[in-house]
Amino acid sequence: FILISITAASLAIGHAQARDSYDHIRFGVDVPYEPMEYRTPEGELTGFDIDLGNALCEQMEVTCEWVEQQWDGIIPGLLARNYDAIMSSMTINEERRAQVLFTDSYLTVPSAWFGPVDMALEDVNEANIDGLILGVQRGTLQDNYATDLYGDIATIRRYASVDDMLLDMEAERVDIVFVNYPVGKTTLLDSERSEYRVIGDMINEPYKYFGDGLAIALRPRDEALAERFNKAIAAVKEDGTYDRIHERYFGE
Ligand code: ARG
Repeated sequence: FILISITAASLAIGHAQARDSYDHIRFGVDVPYEPMEYRTPEGELTGFDIDLGNALCEQMEVTCEWVEQQWDGIIPGLLARNYDAIMSSMTINEERRAQVLFTDSYLTVPSAWFGPVDMALEDVNEANIDGLILGVQRGTLQDNYATDLYGDIATIRRYASVDDMLLDMEAERVDIVFVNYPVGKTTLLDSERSEYRVIGDMINEPYKYFGDGLAIALRPRDEALAERFNKAIAAVKEDGTYDRIHERYFGE
């Protein structure tokens, strides 16, 4: 009898913990993805996701920390409990929904192709990219899209790190790259690097490939935590915090 009640009690505790015991949240993030997540020259972690994540923690009255993780292992790292949430410009889509629980979306961003200004390419389509080398970050929606549409015609080069991809474009080892628009704008159009431009139209989310906006990803059983995040997202939108952070990185 005693044995049974102990088991029941520990089960109850275990269950309560699984539902909601977070007073400290560890965020997994792939850096750099400027202006979403990057390091200042002084080495400080900053960006839209970082500031918003920290503001959400403050709102939820929890402490938080950031754990760096390369993109192609970011969902496995969450499921292995290396951190409790992914806040890394991750777009909601069906494929990921099978593995993680998403909060409400906190931002929608388009994707775009970027390439050298002097390149004679008006837009990217099946008829004009024969023989080109296209760059994407491995495991992103941009990778899925480029692979499905152009995988048979062009060479797709997949990078673990966006930084390596941009360095390769400067070194002319890759012709054009496909990323979330704000990242190309900040790191290519507004930077000291060589001259780059957007090639063709911006590709907007939501779209067949581009899901339903960026959200925080959690382990499937953390429904109570998702609820807390959703309330906090609504609260920071309501009190002006969200707008201040948005303005800091995107202008008004
Ligand atoms: N939004 C894209 C996706 O969800 C790319 C995100 C990449 N994020 C990063 N921090 N590198 O697939």
